[in-house]
Formats: sequence, structure tokens, C-alpha cells
Amino acid sequence: MSAVLLVECSPRFARSRSRAAAEQLVDRLKRREPGLGLLRRDLAVHPPPLIDEAFSEAIRLPAAEHTPAQRQALEASEALIAELEATSVLVIGTPMHNFTVPAPLKAWIDQVLRIGRTFRRTPAGKAGLLADRPAYVVVATGGFIAGERARQPDFLTPYLGAVLATLGIREPRFLHLEAAEGRSERSRPAEAELRSWLDTHLPLAVGAE
Ligand SMILES: Cc1cc2nc3c(=O)[nH]c(=O)nc-3n(C[C@H](O)[C@H](O)[C@H](O)COP(=O)(O)O)c2cc1C
Repeated sequence: MSAVLLVECSPRFARSRSRAAAEQLVDRLKRREPGLGLLRRDLAVHPPPLIDEAFSEAIRLPAAEHTPAQRQALEASEALIAELEATSVLVIGTPMHNFTVPAPLKAWIDQVLRIGRTFRRTPAGKAGLLADRPAYVVVATGGFIAGERARQPDFLTPYLGAVLATLGIREPRFLHLEAAEGRSERSRPAEAELRSWLDTHLPLAVGAE
């Protein structure tokens, strides 16, 4: 099936910049490919379970050797991985929380980035087992994270890039909505920035505007 998996995790909803921009990005994808399906995974509404002892034991064993408790500990992981396997485009909308991804997104990563299931170890390093696909990551930050105005580190972008590469998703495109909060009352510049990013990375056919 040609479908987008939209993963969102902001604890805010109507006021969330990352959600609003990710929705617009999905909208653009659908305009470029009518008939594209959409699967939503809202990690703020349904946070994935944290890794427990049964999970960490289970991932070391072949499936045939799992106890019922270990099988159960992997259920959420299997369901979330199945969503990735069933879709052909990945869109992640995320705020930066304390220089990196919010906890529910980290919990999702811990469920889907699984040795022997979505990546394997090779002498050259970890190799992804998922089909490569287009991936887009919208990141909203309260401050600046790049250039001269940045006063903080950005662990989110390189981290998510490494996670996706390890899954087998090689060329994620990041859209950074920096200082998103400060512009809330005058959202036009952010709107223009978003529009220009979409026009560069996901242009519409002439006449389709
Ligand atoms: C708990 C928490 C931690 C945050 N940490 C950072 C941070 O490290 N750097 C930053 O620039 N903004 C930080 N922010 C601000 C958010 O990234 C910013 O408000 C962003 O717009 C939130 O995305 P949203 O609008 O999609 O909810 C933080 C916000 C919260 C609630």
C-alpha cells in the first residue's frame, strides 16, 4: 500500500507548531499523490511502553524460544514495526525537549529499533532491515539550534538521523521550525518559511497551486 505513516508526539495539540507543519507536509504529499493513504500514530495520546526486563531479555533470543511473557513484552514493538512495514513514506512531527526528542518519541524508537528485527549487526556496523523510503522530520524548537543565534546544542537532529539510518531509512529531510514559540503571535514568517521549504522539497506541478 502506498501510505504515509505520520508519527506525532507534541503534548500540545491545537497550539502545536510541529503538528500543524507536519499536517501541512502530509497535505502536500497527498496533493502530489492523490490516493496516498494515511496512518496516524499519536505518541502523546498513546505513549509506547517503556522497556522492561522481559523486553530486554526477549530481544536477545530467537522468537521460537520466547516465553509467553516475553512474547507479550514484544507485542507493542511488533505492532509499531508493522505500521512502518505497511507504509511507504514516514513523516515525524516533533518538538525539541531538552535538546533532544520528547520521551514518548524515544519510547517509540526503543520499540521499533530492534536488533535482529529492524536492524542487524555486521562487521561494518549496524545495517537496517526496513525498506528505504522517503522520510520527513518536522522539528519545532523554542530557541535557535543552528547558526550564530544558536545558544544550545542540537542532539535531536543527528540522533534521529542515526536512528533512521540504522532502520534503513537513509535520507530523511529535516524541516527545522526554530524559535517557533516566539513567533506565535506573528506566525506569518513561519508560514512563509514552511511554504518555501515545501516548494523546494515537495514542489507541486505547474498549475496545481
Ligand atoms: C519540556 C520542554 C522542554 C523544551 N526544551 C527545549 C529545548 O531544549 N530547546 C528549545 O529550543 N526548545 C525547547 N522547548 C520548547 C519547544 O521545543 C517549543 O515550544 C516547540 O514549539 C514545541 O513544539 P510544539 O509547538 O509542536 O509543541 C521545550 C519545551 C518543553 C515543554
